[in-house]
This record gives sequence, structure tokens and C-alpha cells, in this order.
Amino acid sequence: MTTTAVEFDPFSDEYFNDPTEVYRRLRDEAPVYFSERYNFYALSRFADVVTAHRDWQGFSSAHGLDLSMLSKDPEIVRNLRSIIMMDPPERDRLRALVSRVFTPRAMTALEPMVREVVTSYLTPLEDAESFDAVADFSAHFPVEIITRMLGVPDGEANQLREWIDLSLHREPGQMEPTREGREAIMQVGAYYYQLIAEKRRNPGDDMLSRLTQVTVDRGDGEESGLDDVEITGFATLLGGAGAETVTKLIGNAAVVFDRNPEQWQRVRDEPEVIPRAVEEILRLLPPSQYQGRFSKADREFAGGLIPAGYPVLLLTGAATRDPRAFERPDDLDLDRPPSVAIGFGHGVHSCLGAALARLESRIAIEEMAKRWRRLEVDDAGLRRVHMSNVAGYSHVPVRAVRSN
Ligand code: HEM
Repeated sequence: MTTTAVEFDPFSDEYFNDPTEVYRRLRDEAPVYFSERYNFYALSRFADVVTAHRDWQGFSSAHGLDLSMLSKDPEIVRNLRSIIMMDPPERDRLRALVSRVFTPRAMTALEPMVREVVTSYLTPLEDAESFDAVADFSAHFPVEIITRMLGVPDGEANQLREWIDLSLHREPGQMEPTREGREAIMQVGAYYYQLIAEKRRNPGDDMLSRLTQVTVDRGDGEESGLDDVEITGFATLLGGAGAETVTKLIGNAAVVFDRNPEQWQRVRDEPEVIPRAVEEILRLLPPSQYQGRFSKADREFAGGLIPAGYPVLLLTGAATRDPRAFERPDDLDLDRPPSVAIGFGHGVHSCLGAALARLESRIAIEEMAKRWRRLEVDDAGLRRVHMSNVAGYSHVPVRAVRSN
């Protein structure tokens, strides 16, 4: 019997539809994987992914996040002025400007608004015999929440979400966004750039207005305000990260609970386990499947060397199913002992919005559990997104069985 070498193509139907098997082979057979086709390295074991996240000097974020950017001149990435694509110390100075808004303590004040937005999308579905847990629900509320926080006028969130969807979409075998995707990236940037000018003229009680008023130490002891490109960098990052990921987590939750109805019953009986359920769904099906880096120095791993000068993918989706780190890694276990939650990244770039994402996800599951005894997924109607870095469903049709 001959075995072929494992091939990992993050733009293939195999990957988009279900990467479980290719991830297993990568961990077992090629833990330091090199893609001849796209010229990148990939790490897939939990311990290696954590090590690389902690080593920002060796694995830089300043070349971008996805393979399209990582393969280009880093000067292009620099011009985007996005903290997720910067290394310390510049990243630390800029991140500090917004981090207060996203602390767990700040989330307590946000909870009523989050619940109001979540229920505004669930109430119209209460009497429906069937609906789509993503297209009718989870696609809408996260973008509405983050755009409200940013100060986007009412009624414009959905247009932003459609542009973000287009910008992340990838055709099979294509590293680059489509023409519509490239146009959508420009439209999001232009939208926020104009909105920031408006906030400078008429500031409101929102994040974008506050960012027009803050100053930052540029590293030379001199304080200066942010320019419009820098604030646009924040807006596109927060608007994008805040829109896409919780959408996927809730769609994944509907599918996972359909496969584990006794766990759904437990969530309904003991709502206090919902935060743990959120962590488990994040581990089983992380919405952000991989984080892109660029190797700045040679680094040796048990499975081989990653030389300096290459794009590197840290495969979160493979790492969180690594049996070297988790017992029965493919099972949903609400009593699993806590571990490093790399679904939100790890190290200097760990997710700024993690507390918000946890709050939104908890409230969404709480409100769904109050309303429905069962949400039976119609497998034939499941559709996955084909996106760069982000994974999950665009459509999760369910037959809804109401609570009494
Ligand atoms: C389930 C939901 C979410 C998941 C799975 C997620 C995942 C991640 C991951 C994996 C990273 C690390 C990226 C890297 O290392 O290159 C990250 C960073 C980040 N996330 Fe999230 N995220 C979520 C929700 C949010 C929300 C709601 C926001 C904000 C509104 C947000 C804002 C950010 C920002 C600004 C960063 C960059 C932090 C930095 O570079 O310092 N995320 N997120």
C-alpha cells in the first residue's frame, strides 16, 4: 500500500467543507508542513501553535493576516494601520487606546443593549416553524452591536456586513479576493473615512468620535492625535472582527447542539453552564481557523525547521482538536477542565473583543434556550462560507420546537 503525502490547501473545497481529516494528517504526519503550491509553512499541534503565538519576535504579524497579504510587500500592510497587523511596541500603544472599551467590567454596562439587540432578532422568529439560525439571526446581531458601539448611523450595519462578507470570500484555489471583494474592501474603507470626517465635525458618544479626540505617544515621547487613516484602520478591524466571528460561533452552536440534544437540554436546565458551552464550541469549531504570521528568524520545532522569510499559518482549528492536548478532542464536553483558549488567539494579539464575543454568545444561547426545546437542523440546507481565515456556516436551517 502506498500513502500519498498530506496536502493542505486552505482554498480547497475539502478544507472549506470539513478540514477534520486533513488536520489530523497534518498533526500526525507533517506537524511542520510546507505548501509547495502557495509557499507557506503551517503548524498544527496545540503546543507548537501556542509556542509560535508567544514568540512574536520570531513570528511577526506586520506582514498581514492572510496568505494574500503575507505574500506581498509589507509596506502595503503598513499603510493599512491596523493593530492586528503590527508588532509591539507600536501595536501596544495603539491597542491601549481602545482596550478599556472591551474589558470584562465594561461589558456589564453593555449587557442590556446586547440583550435588546439579540431579542429584537429572535422575537419575530418565535412563532415560525422553521427559520435559518444564521441568515435570519446570527448574521445580524453582532454587526449591529459593534457598529452601534462605533457610532455608525442606524440602518447601515447590514450594508457594511455585506461588504465584509464579500471581502473575505475566496473562490476555490484562489488566494486573492474576487474583484467584488476588492471593491468591497475599498467601499468599507471609504465609508469609514467619510464617517470619521463627520464625527470630527459633529462628535457623538461613540468610539469613533472618541478616537478623533485621543492622543498617543509615538514612541519618541511626543503625543499626537490619530489621523483619519489610523482611525479607519481601527474601524475596519473592529467592524470586521466584530461582525463575522460571533455569527459563525452561533451557527456552529446550533449544529453542535443538534448533534448533542442532551447537552442542549442541559443548557436549558442549567443556564449557568452556558459560558462553558461557549468555550467548548469555540474549541470544537473555532470561527477563526488560522492566524497568519511571517517568520523573522529560523525556528526549530519537534517536527522540523521553519526558516526565516516565509508566511506561516498557525492552524488553530487543528490545534484545538489535538489529542496530545485534549482528551476525546472531538466530543462536546461541558465539564472539560479549562485550558488556554486559543480560539481567541494567544499572546500579544489575543482577541481584543473576547469579552464582548463571550457576552454576545452567552446571551444569544440563553435567549435561544429560553424559546426553543429543540432546534432540529435540516442538514440538506447547511451551507458553509468559503472565506479566508474565517470558517463556519452561512445557512443553518432549523425546524423549531417551541418551549411550552
Ligand atoms: C467568537 C468571536 C471571536 C473570535 C473567535 C475571535 C478570534 C480572534 C483571534 C483568533 C484573534 C487573534 C488574531 C491573531 O493572532 O492574528 C483576534 C484578534 C482580535 N479580535 Fe477577535 N474574535 C472574536 C470576536 C471579536 C470581536 C467581537 C471583536 C471586536 C469588536 C474582536 C476584535 C479583535 C481585535 C481588534 C483583534 C486584534 C487584537 C490585536 O492584534 O491586538 N474580535 N480575534
